[in-house]
Amino acid sequence: MSAESPHHHAGGYADFPFVQYVYDHLPAAKHRRDVDFHVEIAKQIGGEVLELAAGSGRIAIPTARAGVPITALDLSTYMLAALQESLAREPKEVSERVRIAEADMRQFDLGVRYQLITIPFYSFQHLTETDDQLACLRSCHRHLADDGRLVINVTNPSLPRIVSGKSFDEIQPEPEFKLPDGRSVIRKIRDSKKDLVNQVITSEFIYLVTNLDGNQERLVHELPMRYIFRNEMEHLLARAGFAVEAIYEDFQKTPFGTRHSINEAGWSAGEMIVVAKKCAATA
Ligand SMILES: C[S@@+](CC[C@H](N)C(=O)[O-])C[C@H]1O[C@@H](n2cnc3c(N)ncnc32)[C@H](O)[C@@H]1O
Repeated sequence: MSAESPHHHAGGYADFPFVQYVYDHLPAAKHRRDVDFHVEIAKQIGGEVLELAAGSGRIAIPTARAGVPITALDLSTYMLAALQESLAREPKEVSERVRIAEADMRQFDLGVRYQLITIPFYSFQHLTETDDQLACLRSCHRHLADDGRLVINVTNPSLPRIVSGKSFDEIQPEPEFKLPDGRSVIRKIRDSKKDLVNQVITSEFIYLVTNLDGNQERLVHELPMRYIFRNEMEHLLARAGFAVEAIYEDFQKTPFGTRHSINEAGWSAGEMIVVAKKCAATA
């Protein structure tokens, strides 16, 4: 593991306190249509689920509500504080189904083997070096039952975004929104650095927060993320002892490559959702 690398800040989530208060209210998180997919696969497979980088429980809580026990692993105390706060509002039988593990997804030892391990919503892209990606996949391999499944959702990289200078401009893709305490928030997004050799694009999520007294603050969450191409994903999984079973380009399980063209502009060229099973000991 290369914990000293400048890219290793857990995607910025461990160093940005405001994320605890804002994450669940972000239109991009609130309206994301991946929850049913993850809940359904958890119900189908049965047994306990491990969600890596589970954050504030956007998926873990609905999974527990559906009757499935789930371990929510994350490194950010801010995201886990948001999870604990939400769990306190759930009925006891739901909150008791969620086990929280404060740990690094590159290296963890929970002493349990799971039927299903998931890494939703691009969290795997916070691992910006190959050694870290492999360490994570090998930790998954150790924690997965022999007939278990691993589900990883990353973006299908947008080639126009990678090469275009335009993505350095601040854009505001979401409408202004309010936090429960009355503060209003505008989020802007820009890329601040592109390391095309290491496939790492650093983005800034810029929050313009208007406090109740009218004062405005500008808070910046910097996220380095590695983009991963489809074949690279398959090779990585093979090196860690997994075989790819299916790759989808959306949460309706459309086979990858059906619709999306490489020319699609925007933050990503759609989803890449990989379902893998164990095939061998790790290389
Ligand atoms: C986009 S959020 C996803 C949260 C949740 N899975 C969801 O779908 O809403 C990314 C999460 O990855 C976590 N994270 C980043 N690097 C991590 C690491 N090395 N180990 C554990 N968690 C990590 C962050 O703390 C953050 O909660």
